[in-house]
Amino acid sequence: MENTVSAEAYVDVMLRVNGSARRLRLDSRVTLLDALRDELDLTGTKKGCDQGACGACTVLLDGKRVLSCLTLAAQCEGREVTSIEGLATDGRLHPVQEAFIRHDGFQCGYCTPGQIMSAVALLQEGRAGSDEEIREFMSGNLCRCGAYPNIVAAIREVAGRGSE
Ligand code: FES
Ligand code: FES
Repeated sequence: MENTVSAEAYVDVMLRVNGSARRLRLDSRVTLLDALRDELDLTGTKKGCDQGACGACTVLLDGKRVLSCLTLAAQCEGREVTSIEGLATDGRLHPVQEAFIRHDGFQCGYCTPGQIMSAVALLQEGRAGSDEEIREFMSGNLCRCGAYPNIVAAIREVAGRGSE
């Protein structure tokens, strides 16, 4: 096969990550996932499939969940990115994080940051009205350990409290 050498195009990008402005100079092809993990050392966001199929890389972009492996960092100029590291406030875990712990919503934990980010968004979207609805709107987040019943229980508890 013929070798192709493509010229790298670097771009300056300013992201607001977990409330702080972060300026980066990046290859324009770098994904938001790689920018978070490799440039900003925010390794809580996990790389599972790296092709949009597992949800492990879920973060919030302007409050809406996105798959960071399918999002170019350069598209996020000036936008607000929230990763799992940004959920706790004043040293207190987010209610969804606490509920996951209470309900054992994880085993190996690899999918957990993505599950939690998705759950936070789902609650904000008002999509946690029933177990069925929770399962449907969490269906993009796969768990190889099969922790689904406990994940649903954790989300249901937070939804029942009317918290986010
Ligand atoms: S790593 Fe992004 S969806 Fe799997
Ligand atoms: S807890 Fe292991 S993949 Fe979900």
